[in-house]
Amino acid sequence: MFVKTSPFRHSIARHKSSSLKKHFQKVKGDPFNEKKRGEFYRSRAAFKLLEIDEKYHLFNKNCHNIVDLGFAPGAWSQVAVENLGDREFTILGIDINHATPYKGCHYIQGDVTKTYTHSKIREFFTNDDGSIQPLDLIMSDMMINCTGHDHYDHLGNMELCNAGLILAFNQLRVGGNMVMKVWQGSELMLLEARMKVLFSKQFAFKPKSSRSESSELYFVGLGRRDLEYKVLLSDLFSDLEDVKKLQMQVR
Ligand SMILES: C[S@@+](CC[C@H](N)C(=O)[O-])C[C@H]1O[C@@H](n2cnc3c(N)ncnc32)[C@H](O)[C@@H]1O
Repeated sequence: MFVKTSPFRHSIARHKSSSLKKHFQKVKGDPFNEKKRGEFYRSRAAFKLLEIDEKYHLFNKNCHNIVDLGFAPGAWSQVAVENLGDREFTILGIDINHATPYKGCHYIQGDVTKTYTHSKIREFFTNDDGSIQPLDLIMSDMMINCTGHDHYDHLGNMELCNAGLILAFNQLRVGGNMVMKVWQGSELMLLEARMKVLFSKQFAFKPKSSRSESSELYFVGLGRRDLEYKVLLSDLFSDLEDVKKLQMQVR
């Protein structure tokens, strides 16, 4: 269901200050001297989320229920736990591969492109009385095994992003936020248009810690809109022209 669009044009926000350094100084126990910095986190992916959070404040006081899509080996969950501190939270990591959850977090092995996995997530956040706890934040760092062919890597990533967007449509609370890794390419405008329907604010951000030659960047959606049944999931997944019309409708 991919629709050809014109080449991707964005003004991508870039991190300006050496804020990571400041962050490291702030963290309790400060194990981040030059040598230990990289060893502390389960992967270098942590540094990207730290930069994203510093700019967009994803781990704010209203953030309790988090789903971490493509969480393995777990550095993003680690950053979330660290930032949430002693606040109450539930973090559910999902990954297609087997992995060990970070302490205090939960994990389900599953493919996010499958409906079954979305049902498992809903089930996990369902209380004993049958009420469902909506999600406050969906973070996705999912990426396929890169083929090295940028266009195919882009298409593979778009499938993962669309699966994340479906989860956001169905299970993210009104006002909730989302961050997801995207791979630049021809379908990105369509994804951006869909995000603009679902979220009041949408940003493209390239963290300093993401290699400049990499096609990766991050889309951040802030404030999931209350679409009040005006928009169906099938509307959101129509082609670019129709999604742009939807944007006008929901404003
Ligand atoms: C770049 S890694 C994520 C790193 C992670 N954010 C961290 O901080 O450690 C991408 C992950 O996406 C996962 N992934 C790829 N396709 C997936 C799918 N269809 N469903 C769930 N996870 C998937 C991979 O198994 C891989 O662990």
